[in-house]
Amino acid sequence: MARLVIANNQTIAECAQKIRDGEIVAIPTETVYGLAANALDDVAVEKIFKAKDRPAFNPLIVHIADISQAENLVEFNDIARIVADAFWPGALTIILPQKENNDISHLVSAGLPTLAIRIPSHKVTRQLLKDAGVPVAAPSANASGEPSATTPHHVAQSLGDKIDVILSAGSCDVGLESTVLDLSGDVPTILRPGAITVDDLRPYIGDVEEEFVAKEKPRSEIKSPGQLLKHYAPSIPVRLKAVDVQPDEALLAFGSIKFMGVRGGGSVKTLSEEAYRNLSETADLEEAARNLFTMLRDLDRPKYSAIAVMDVPETGIGVAINERLRRAAKN
Ligand code: TXA
Ligand code: MG
Repeated sequence: MARLVIANNQTIAECAQKIRDGEIVAIPTETVYGLAANALDDVAVEKIFKAKDRPAFNPLIVHIADISQAENLVEFNDIARIVADAFWPGALTIILPQKENNDISHLVSAGLPTLAIRIPSHKVTRQLLKDAGVPVAAPSANASGEPSATTPHHVAQSLGDKIDVILSAGSCDVGLESTVLDLSGDVPTILRPGAITVDDLRPYIGDVEEEFVAKEKPRSEIKSPGQLLKHYAPSIPVRLKAVDVQPDEALLAFGSIKFMGVRGGGSVKTLSEEAYRNLSETADLEEAARNLFTMLRDLDRPKYSAIAVMDVPETGIGVAINERLRRAAKN
């Protein structure tokens, strides 16, 4: 069973050493917890795929400490420089053509000519990357297909018997995975929505396309391999845009529940405490993003026929929340 260690200077240095030694370690970031390995080391990267049971065609994000490290790995262009200046460190992953003969393991990019890179902002992650001194491949620290882990406890639930160490720094500030922005083609394209939105990006780079499942693109047009997979899925069905709740369902609310009723009569207030969570009583989308994966996990119990989810507005980070919810609801 995985050991949970509280992040401090010493434990961060120890985890960095483990990464250098070719081991995998779960680490906190500002978005979600990651499962980290030395991106230069084939054997270590292979351990990530195995622990997560992740298909080999789904590439990983490489986490780095600073831009100069990125310049060694990928071909920067003007737009990438502008975006990196504006949003790094932070919840944005950029996809660029790989530099020929960089040392990144081919398993990381799943054989693609491009590489996804990110400079995280979390203090612990930044120190770990500095101490490790190598680029760190890290997908979300959950078994493939499950909701991402936003607390050390959820990492333990999902991967506890597959990994040795979880570096713990409490729950994640953002709660959703980074925005994935593809800058390897002619038009900047968001492959996965996140905290950094189209509206945040446009003032810097003008036109931005969006290509993710929420936009109902045909599968053939989806560029990011991870977007093809069923994802974020609890073990029971997820029912979206609920305007009422069935007596045997759990309710994931957003904002006021004044007008929500139980089908067949009765108030939502009669639901048991454990059958009800509210993403944000004040309808705050950032708070909802932070709570989403934890609350989906809380309500994921076999005794409910489904999780009924109230409508979340498609604005700001709401776009990313809805994308995760739609994919959770796909079967
Ligand atoms: O916030 C995050 O991004 C977290 C933390 C740990 O940094 N990481 C994360 O990684 O969410 P993961 O592996 O769960 O999601 C990475 C996504 C996948 O959908 C993958 O297909 C896509 O990025 N991706 C990675 N490399 C790519 C590439 N070269 N081209 C297109 N998509 C890529
Ligand atoms: Mg993931």
